[in-house]
This record gives sequence, C-alpha cells and structure tokens, in this order.
Amino acid sequence: MDHFALKHGVLHAEDVPLTAIADAVGTPVYVYSRATLERHARVFAEAVAGVGPHHIAFAVKANPNLAVLRVLARAGYGADVVSQGEMRRALAAGMDPAGIVFSGVGKTRGELEAGLRAGIGQFNLELEEEGVVLGEIASGFGVRAPATLRVNPDVDAGTHAKISTGRAENKFGVPISDAPAMFDRLARVDGLNLRGVAVHIGSQLADLAPLESAYRRVGELVGALRAAGHVISHVDLGGGLGVPYRPGDVLPTPAEFGAMVERVTRGWDVTLMFEPGRVIAGNAGVLLTRVIWVKPGVARPYVIVDAAMNDLARPALYEAYHDFAAVEPNGATFAANIAGPVCESGDTFAMGRVIDCVGNGDLGVLRTAGAYGATMASTYNSRALVPEVLVDGDRFAVVADRIEPATILAAERVPEWLK
Ligand code: LLP
Repeated sequence: MDHFALKHGVLHAEDVPLTAIADAVGTPVYVYSRATLERHARVFAEAVAGVGPHHIAFAVKANPNLAVLRVLARAGYGADVVSQGEMRRALAAGMDPAGIVFSGVGKTRGELEAGLRAGIGQFNLELEEEGVVLGEIASGFGVRAPATLRVNPDVDAGTHAKISTGRAENKFGVPISDAPAMFDRLARVDGLNLRGVAVHIGSQLADLAPLESAYRRVGELVGALRAAGHVISHVDLGGGLGVPYRPGDVLPTPAEFGAMVERVTRGWDVTLMFEPGRVIAGNAGVLLTRVIWVKPGVARPYVIVDAAMNDLARPALYEAYHDFAAVEPNGATFAANIAGPVCESGDTFAMGRVIDCVGNGDLGVLRTAGAYGATMASTYNSRALVPEVLVDGDRFAVVADRIEPATILAAERVPEWLK
C-alpha cells in the first residue's frame, strides 16, 4: 500500500497535489512519500519480528538520498553499503556505524580502511584474498574486523538475468562447496573475526522458493562449519523481495517471507541480518513528468514526456514495467507509446500500452520509481540530473537539487595545449 492517490480528481502524494510540486520544482522530478517509506519499514520489521535476534540494513543502492536514509535511520534501520560513497551517506544520515554492513564484490583497500576507521559493523567478504587484506589492515589498526563470507549457493532466482546474483556463473560470493575449506583458512587470519556467512541471490524475486532453497543450503553450511569447530554467530540473508509493478501483480508479502525465514532458520541460533532495498523504497516514489508532445506514430501516438532513460533507466536496461498514470485523469484512455526526449529508440517507457488519455502539457507519473530510480540517473544527452522531493503530510521539501548541465559543464575544461 502506498500514499499516492487521487483526491478531488488530482493525484496526490499524501496530502500534496502533484501539480503543486510540478509548479514549484519543475519536471521531471522524483517524489517520495515519507508515510509510505515508514509504512514499508514497519511492515518489513514486523514481518521478521519473530525470527529471534536480527538486524535490518536497508540496501542503500536502492535509494541513497540523504533524507530517505534519515527516515529509515529514525525507523531503526541500519544500512547495507557497497562503496565508500554509500557508507558516507549512511553515516551522514545518522546511522550507527555498528549497524552498517559493507558488501560489494570489488571493495578497494582504501574502502576497507575507511570502513574500519568508521567502525563499520560487518564486512561481507567476496573472496579469500579480500579477507587476508582486511585482516592485515585491521591488525595494523590494532582491531579485529567483524566479517562474514558471502557464499554463492548456485540457485536460480528466477528473475531478470541482469539482477540475478546467486548462480554459479555470477561474479558474486564464493562457491558454497569451497566455503568450508576457505573458512578454515580465513578463521586463522589475524585481525579477522570471521563470524558467519552471507548470501544474496538476486532482486525483484517473485517467488520465495529460490530464497528458501538458498537459505537451506546456508543452514547446512552453518552446521558443517560448526561441526568443524567454528563459532557462527551471524548469518546475513541479503535482500531481494520483489514488489508489484503492474496493477494486479501478486508477490510474496513480507509476512510470508518472514514466516518462511522463521521456519527455515529455526534452531540456527544466530543473529540474522536482512538487506531489503526495493521492498522498502520501490512503491514509496514516483517519477513526475510532463508531456511535451503527443506525436502521431505509425501504429499509435508517441507520448513524448520530459523524463527519459537517463532519469529512469530500468525500462531501457531491464525491459522493466512502470505503471503510468495521469495526474489529472479525465476518465478516457488511449493506446500509446510513452517515450523520452533522449536520442535513442530504446528511450521508451511503454510501447502500445492503454494509458490515461493525456495531451500536450499534461502531467503524469511513472510509478514504483522509489527504488533504483534517481540513484541510477545520469546526465546523458547533457540533460540535468533529476531532482528529488520528499513529501510529509501536507508539506514537501526538495531533498536533492536539480543539477543543471551548466554546473556539470563548469567541472570540465579544455587543456591549455588544446586552446
Ligand atoms: N544485498 C545485496 C548484496 C545486493 O546486491 C542487493 C541488490 C540488495 C541487498 C538489495 O536487493 P533488493 O532488496 O533491493 O532486491 N538496479 C536493479 C536492481 C539491482 C539490485 C542489486 N543488488 C533494478 O533496477 O532492478
């Protein structure tokens, strides 16, 4: 459930008409609802409340906006970060360093050092050498780095190939069959407190079965590691829960996920960690855009909007579906293509879809854009970097400025020898 709804014929974010945001900030602009973020954070927390000791770390990559992270910090969430930049954001939002998990398949030495200096709560190791380097740096600092070994359970998550991470051929984690021997070696590394295992098999999972089989494999591994004399106190179960993008989509609910986790992990006697991203932020945001032209097309008209693939990359990258709705619908619909102004034929948000009837100058939204939306935006075609707004009841604030092409141009220069 989200807080974007029609009131008196105008689409609102909570109590703010989207027309007011378009007037004040311009378009395109991402609009987030604080009440929706808080609701999703609460629903997920309640869903896993029964699993015993646990920690929830929001996957910052899904939505790294400082104000969004602040909302989640206040809801008691930690953060899952994959770069020093994300770590900085989580800390700037007031998150406790101890509640931050550092994931990522290519952490640099500089990032490991920065993480240790900041007192990051856990490093999820992606390969053996990384553990050796982390231990070495930690020893130099006179500390022991809390860490888990991320395993690749070779499970097909059944999601889009580009967001699948748990199959053997993916770059993530170490083969689960190699984990026991690797764990033996890493457990002896000075400066490393290797305390558990981590797993994450993919994103936008529409089915709990692959997660369940991955978790069962991890459970067997935990048993084997303990039998070999290791102390296992933490298991990180990653993220991946999908959200409905299309009207009528039925996905596993957080409550069903929580019940599955409770069933599968019973008796593990560890602190469980979760890294949800999309399920918290996805339906808490829309991309507000204005129709520039309705242009005649061969089969059907093109609705050319002022948002493009540089603002919301998911349709172009993953053929992702984002629902379109008019901000002031008149009740009529028509079959159309929705496209942005970027000079690529792939810059489309929908082809041949029946949508609310819109004309030149009308406002519309692409829904479910709160996760992997603004964070993946670029300035391709020398367009502005899209701004972000957070709504709270009847007030709203710009929480990320529109970065104009002139600002970006000012950071470039022609060298003397080319003048
Ligand atoms: N933990 C790890 C280690 C991850 O790699 C990810 C996502 C998450 C947690 C959060 O997953 P979530 O709960 O959001 O599914 N840009 C793509 C999604 C990439 C996901 C990458 N990893 C998209 O727009 O669909």
